[in-house]
Amino acid sequence: MSDHDPRPPASLVTVTLNPALDVSTSVEVVVPDHKLRCERATREPGGGGVNVARVASRLGVSVRAVVVAGGASGEQVIDLAAGEGLPMTPIRVAGETRQSLSVTERSSGRQYRFVLPGPSVGAEVVDAVGVALDADPSIGCVVFSGSLPPGLAAEALVALVGSVIAAPVIVDTSGPALQHALGTAATVIKPSARELAAVVGRQLLTETDVLTAAEEVLDSSSVGALLVSIGAGGAFLLRSDEPTVRLRPPTVQVASAVGAGDSMVGGLATGLCQGQDLLSAAKLGIAAGSAAVMTPGSGLCTASVVEELLPLVTVGSPTLVT
Ligand SMILES: Nc1ncnc2c1ncn2[C@@H]1O[C@H](COP(=O)(O)OP(=O)(O)OP(=O)(O)O)[C@@H](O)[C@H]1O
Ligand SMILES: [Mg+2]
Repeated sequence: MSDHDPRPPASLVTVTLNPALDVSTSVEVVVPDHKLRCERATREPGGGGVNVARVASRLGVSVRAVVVAGGASGEQVIDLAAGEGLPMTPIRVAGETRQSLSVTERSSGRQYRFVLPGPSVGAEVVDAVGVALDADPSIGCVVFSGSLPPGLAAEALVALVGSVIAAPVIVDTSGPALQHALGTAATVIKPSARELAAVVGRQLLTETDVLTAAEEVLDSSSVGALLVSIGAGGAFLLRSDEPTVRLRPPTVQVASAVGAGDSMVGGLATGLCQGQDLLSAAKLGIAAGSAAVMTPGSGLCTASVVEELLPLVTVGSPTLVT
């Protein structure tokens, strides 16, 4: 950072290789063939790492969001995030950043989500992200979150995680990228039970199934920990050097589960940036995830609700049935 840069050093850097322009609207009823005249749309900057950065910023952490952006929708993502005061490092590519359209059917409350593909990117993006990470010597934590764009092999994520030497790394992704991330020295990986089921290639019907699969996956991985989220049931935290624990959120009024995972990772990253141990940071993650489900639409958590829920998160034995 130069002497004249007015920004405080970023404590958290999030990397979003495939961000999205999130467009949300509503319509009375969804039917085929007819034009569906929607309400005026709201636009928000989105994609895993962008959402994580927005959450951590709300929770008081100094953040920087590295985003790969293309075309007019990429510029909108950058402008909208900058408008929220989020420091950004854009890596501009050819093609158009994807749009994600969320339509709430007012008659039923159901939400329909259409996600377009992102632009195809080349391996040069990996070098550019590496340079962006090197530029910040004061990083307290790095988050890689979201899907990989078309064209980028899952190995790219391995190289990126490996390029972070001095800070804890959190990864939240799915499919082949998640499989590859398990072979890195990431500090903690946050799969949902659904994503874990894809890793082990079998259905996980009970919490015991999830726990058994998580133990198998951690044992055969090189990561430090797994935080496996199970929706309303909270999460299992498995560490290579500590006993496994179960974290439970309080019962909350569910408005929409959208944004829960990203808020959870935002809380987790906030804790690690503040120097908390992994268990305390995971508790903050659970509080943030549960705060997000209380927010309608694609809403992320707010600091005041996270603060309210945090003391209500419990930690116990992984097999204790309540
Ligand atoms: N119904 C709920 N009630 C309370 N908390 C919830 C609920 N759903 C989710 N959460 C909170 O959000 C966290 C993450 O939710 P979840 O396990 O669904 O992950 P996700 O990343 O959103 O899932 P996916 O990526 O598969 O869509 C949970 O661990 C929990 O803290
Ligand atoms: Mg998720």
